[in-house]
Amino acid sequence: MKAKVAVLISGTGTNMAALLYAAKADGCPYEIVLVASNNPDAPGLTLAATEGIATWARAHKGMNRDAFDALVDERLREAGADYVALAGYMRILSDGFVAAWQGRMLNIHPSLLPLYKGLDTHQKAIDAGDKFGGCSVHIVTPTLDDGPVLAQTPVAILPGDTADSLAARVLIAEHQLYPPTLAAFVTRERSPDWLLGRARALAMALPEADEVTSHGMPCFGIVKGKKFAYFTHDHHGDGRTALLVKISGADEQAQLIEMDAERYYRPAYFGDGWVGIRLDLGDTDWDAIADWLRKSWLAVAPKKLAGLMGAAEEF
Ligand code: GRF
Repeated sequence: MKAKVAVLISGTGTNMAALLYAAKADGCPYEIVLVASNNPDAPGLTLAATEGIATWARAHKGMNRDAFDALVDERLREAGADYVALAGYMRILSDGFVAAWQGRMLNIHPSLLPLYKGLDTHQKAIDAGDKFGGCSVHIVTPTLDDGPVLAQTPVAILPGDTADSLAARVLIAEHQLYPPTLAAFVTRERSPDWLLGRARALAMALPEADEVTSHGMPCFGIVKGKKFAYFTHDHHGDGRTALLVKISGADEQAQLIEMDAERYYRPAYFGDGWVGIRLDLGDTDWDAIADWLRKSWLAVAPKKLAGLMGAAEEF
């Protein structure tokens, strides 16, 4: 299943077009499900609509930031977006919106970050006598043009370059940089190594946790004690990447599977005391996984140790 991406634009939308055309290539791991704008006249909207992509636009004038962003958020969710790609979206986002899409929203910025956040990036690079301008794709965090940089392309500054002539070349570099960076970003969340790294970090953060290999699977237990989680990838060729955690028994297992048969399953050879939780569906709620691990840990932890967690009464 392809990752569903919504693109937010305010203007020409050439980066959006680059993302959209790249999405047409065989094997591209994402598809564009919505192009949305705070500017109903953004030329990019026509291009997207002509390509058969759903569009939505609404002028933000007269609306406060939170209300407008809530509206955008609603549209993104309706469109089933897993990720948001900002592409020349000239509007500061509310903290609530950024939090709602934390770790799932990227931006492209026309400078070699951390240099020159904000506007007039090309003039600033020229005025500083830099040898290179360039562009960066980064994860969006509450501070403007700040979050972790995923990829950058330097673009040499020519003698006599103006902000416009440099901007034109940087834009070409942007179009080359954004699609593969987005593709890699949505892919990594489904890659077994990345999923194991994330599950491991949560499991190993629990008191006295350690990792061994059991039946060929990374397995987490309490030092010299019982196991509370297994990470499985394509075990016996089942094609799943999942975490196995302890549950109370057959009833809970059946309930979970009934509630969400795609995500939960009965792990072969483990019996009723465990449930498999798929990690490879692309929409894993990692806070929920942390809770599952904590509960599973509590289920096997000796009383003394469980008391340390201060949450033993939950059981
Ligand atoms: C690009 O330079 C991008 O880096 C910046 O805004 C510009 C958008 O251009 N954030 P376009 O609308 O994608 O053509």
